[in-house]
Amino acid sequence: MIPRQLAPWVLAVAAAALTGCGGGGTSVTDTAGTTPGATFTPGNWTWELPSGFAVPKVPEGNPMSAAKVDLGRFLFYDKRLSGNGKQSCASCHHQDKAFTDGKAVAVGSTGQFHPRAAQGLANVAYNATLTWVNPSLVTLEKQMEVPLFSEDPVEMGVNDGNKAEVLSRIATEPLYPPKFAAAFPGETPAPTWGQVIQAIAAFQRTLISGNSKYDQYIQGKATFTPAETRGLNLFMGEKAECFHCHGSFNFNDHVVHAASRVVETPFHNTGLYNIGGTGNFPEGNQGLFEFTAKAADRGLFRAQSLRNVELTAPYMHDGSIASLEAVLDFYAAGGRHITSGPNAGDGRTHPNKSDLITLIDLNAQERADIVAFLKTLTDHDFITNPKFSNPFPAQ
Ligand code: HEC
Ligand code: HEC
Repeated sequence: MIPRQLAPWVLAVAAAALTGCGGGGTSVTDTAGTTPGATFTPGNWTWELPSGFAVPKVPEGNPMSAAKVDLGRFLFYDKRLSGNGKQSCASCHHQDKAFTDGKAVAVGSTGQFHPRAAQGLANVAYNATLTWVNPSLVTLEKQMEVPLFSEDPVEMGVNDGNKAEVLSRIATEPLYPPKFAAAFPGETPAPTWGQVIQAIAAFQRTLISGNSKYDQYIQGKATFTPAETRGLNLFMGEKAECFHCHGSFNFNDHVVHAASRVVETPFHNTGLYNIGGTGNFPEGNQGLFEFTAKAADRGLFRAQSLRNVELTAPYMHDGSIASLEAVLDFYAAGGRHITSGPNAGDGRTHPNKSDLITLIDLNAQERADIVAFLKTLTDHDFITNPKFSNPFPAQ
């Protein structure tokens, strides 16, 4: 049964699955203008997209190519790309954890703690803005300058003092010159930081995850247990409210793709903190407020995609909720009341908290059902796909 409140794209795809025309390559166009399951070839690059997935948006200056993606994969996994040679992108973005790192907050190459948790990279090409809350980071190319060059907190630790040296490490590694030549034909000299960034961005755009049990269910290729079905209906319904903020094909509300006309970039306060009743969140993690300085933006963050969420614990921007069960308890309570310690305060009464969170009404069985449903979003092909794995031999 399909719940009434399902998002239009789900209805389109599910209806197609029910009438038996969703698989087999027949094209079904949903309301977002996507062509599920289609193969789309701009230039010399072929997207192989799961059913229901739109063609990703690619910046004009950085067209996709197989050679660029290949180079980007090597660079993503190469520790020589950090100042002290200790970290690659993959040090904080592990494939087996859907490209998160299992830590509450990330730790950079010099040991400095990041205020926030490393994020998963599944379907990152479709995120309208990047990171937990920065509204100005709208391309992967721009976002990458943060982990590479940021000085506070230090992540990869590339700075003006070592930039040239790091690049020469790459240039003198024999495997790279032919790869740069293939990825950037006719561009000399190579490599440049611009090329490094473009190649890694192209690789990240291929990190597409759309073969979970849920995807197979929507295509009529898998069956849900009664608990998973109840969880799906709750998730997409007005008792749990989840779909309002996690209702897109990517289970968030922050989607951009090649044919997007209107791109929405909402941020929300879910009631995690309200230190001393002042509305404050922990220092350095005040959400959108850090960028706008508006009181109404205090504690607002981007809703995370819930694809592969079973693998991305601990949860929330600061990793402050340990398990999916605890996330559901948090939502069912309408926010978090911290009774002792430096962050004590009642997040449930935060003035900026989304009204939707207050409406969530779930008993223990319903919470367990939603957790069962969330686990259907795990895509085992994605976390084992050799195209996304470390290309360097194990050391
Ligand atoms: C020290 C650990 C660390 C390293 C190394 C690191 N990242 Fe991250 N990554 C993070 C953290 C933490 C966030 C969340 C940042 C925030 O919200 O401010 C993040 C966020 C991201 C995002 C945004 C994802 C989204 O959903 O919006 C992308 C993309 C990304 N990283 C790519 C990379 C790439 C590419 C590299 C290598 C050049 C890299 N990261 C290196 C920790 C790391
Ligand atoms: C008002 C919008 C909104 C609603 C409704 C909502 N969420 Fe969220 N969700 C968010 C935001 C925003 C975050 C990130 C919050 C943060 O880190 O501060 C989030 C984070 C999460 C996370 C953690 C993801 C991660 O990788 O850390 C899970 C799991 C989650 N939500 C599940 C749900 C479920 C299940 C429901 C329904 C019971 C729900 N959400 C309802 C906005 C919402």
